[in-house]
Amino acid sequence: MSLTLGGFDSPKTQTGELKHELLKRILASRLQIAKNALELLAQHPNPNERVEQLILQLKESDEFLILPKHLAQAQPLKEAKQKTTRERVEIVANYASTKPLESIKDISKYFAMRFNQYKRYLQNRLKNVQSISNLKKINNEKVSVIGIISDRRKTHRGNIILKLEDLSGETTAIITNKELIPQAEEMLFDEVIGITGTINKGVIFVEEITVPDLPIKKELKTLENTVYAAFLSDVHVGSKKFLSDKFENMLAFINGKETGALIWEEQAELIDNLKYIFVAGDIVDGIGVYPGQEKELNIRDIFAQYKETAKFFEKIPESIQIIMCPGNHDYVRLAQPQPPIEKDVAPDLYELPNTTLISSPGIVKIRPQENNGLNVLLYHGTSIDTIVPQNPNLKDGYKHPEKVMLTLLKKRHLSPQYESGIVTAEFESDPLAIPEDIDIIHTGHVHSNGAVNYRGVTLINSGTWQDVTDFQKFLGHEPTPARVPLLNLKTRQIRLLEF
Ligand SMILES: [Fe+2]
Ligand SMILES: [Fe+2]
Repeated sequence: MSLTLGGFDSPKTQTGELKHELLKRILASRLQIAKNALELLAQHPNPNERVEQLILQLKESDEFLILPKHLAQAQPLKEAKQKTTRERVEIVANYASTKPLESIKDISKYFAMRFNQYKRYLQNRLKNVQSISNLKKINNEKVSVIGIISDRRKTHRGNIILKLEDLSGETTAIITNKELIPQAEEMLFDEVIGITGTINKGVIFVEEITVPDLPIKKELKTLENTVYAAFLSDVHVGSKKFLSDKFENMLAFINGKETGALIWEEQAELIDNLKYIFVAGDIVDGIGVYPGQEKELNIRDIFAQYKETAKFFEKIPESIQIIMCPGNHDYVRLAQPQPPIEKDVAPDLYELPNTTLISSPGIVKIRPQENNGLNVLLYHGTSIDTIVPQNPNLKDGYKHPEKVMLTLLKKRHLSPQYESGIVTAEFESDPLAIPEDIDIIHTGHVHSNGAVNYRGVTLINSGTWQDVTDFQKFLGHEPTPARVPLLNLKTRQIRLLEF
């Protein structure tokens, strides 16, 4: 018996090309095929589907060589598909229905909950923590205080004055140390921080600012097996600027068409192990999102926009799990958390057997069977618009959204400043807080790619599938359309694929 590692018809003939493609697919799956089996396979009425069945069949039986006997065993495609191991997705946090904060009582309840939660993050890292009401009794002593920032201003001498509140009262803290100024300038209204300094006549002269941050020793969790996750956002289906050709090209790539994004061997290895696709909002362009938007739309009906979206996403193989959250362009009210896109609006997306729709933010655990899985937080990223203009250290925040996300990660909150969104009540913990056991945070919204690993967390902003608009150019944004960040969950390395 000879193995077909060459020696077939001229690649110029159709059968020769077909055999060449089939062989590449088989070798990329680390299998081999006998020459006579390849002949039989090439004569099959649907060789591309049959080869996928055979790959699955041999992998399950731990064999490596495809023989004619394997081809003789008829196996309907449906059966092979059912045998495909479906990846598991466990929903950890999904804010499906949210009640708005309606009264002063609701708002104070929410902030008391936020304060108590962040106090737990901070108090073990501070010494001599005093409640604000207790400060009246203290003078010329080094103390620490945990408080919500209720005011922040810069004096003409460049010092920063903070007003801090806890559940017992309000105090003033002043930052004169020039080394602390850049850190103090990053502070936002409503975030909870710890300060340490000497109290003098009721004013704290700050020597140190402590943010909730993640523990230094938080490990970068990995999987034992190679599994890839791809990250998309801001598809904007329905917009005239939606790059449908490039999106189709990406879908064809996933389905095994050579697009030039990678050499074939790498592509085959990738699509063999691609198990998850995350979509962080602005799935459609929506309607009535900004004045005059109708002129920019080629689909003016919101239901038709989601129907069209489903037509694209149904091309993704069922072996890949798709997890989607909404964005500000989606047909979901603009609360934070923003509930999932509803079934009535996008019934066709709910029909896709491999798609999970969650809120923004929302958390899923993937691959729970391995090393207790990885927790992925999806958040559209709407708060970025509030953070960037206020933080002098983030002037390039729209070009480097990962820097903005990193400041939020250190604050352990996705949207610290209350005015940047309506947070809803009725939760035991702050739904916009970033839990310690998060492994990946995926955002979108600014239409630029960016990624960084920090203390065991991978921050990814996944760019867009919408071409640059005049409005974005005017705002000075630098979108990076049609690029897909791809994360290897075994190594936690990120690479970018361009389509
Ligand atoms: Fe967008
Ligand atoms: Fe957006």
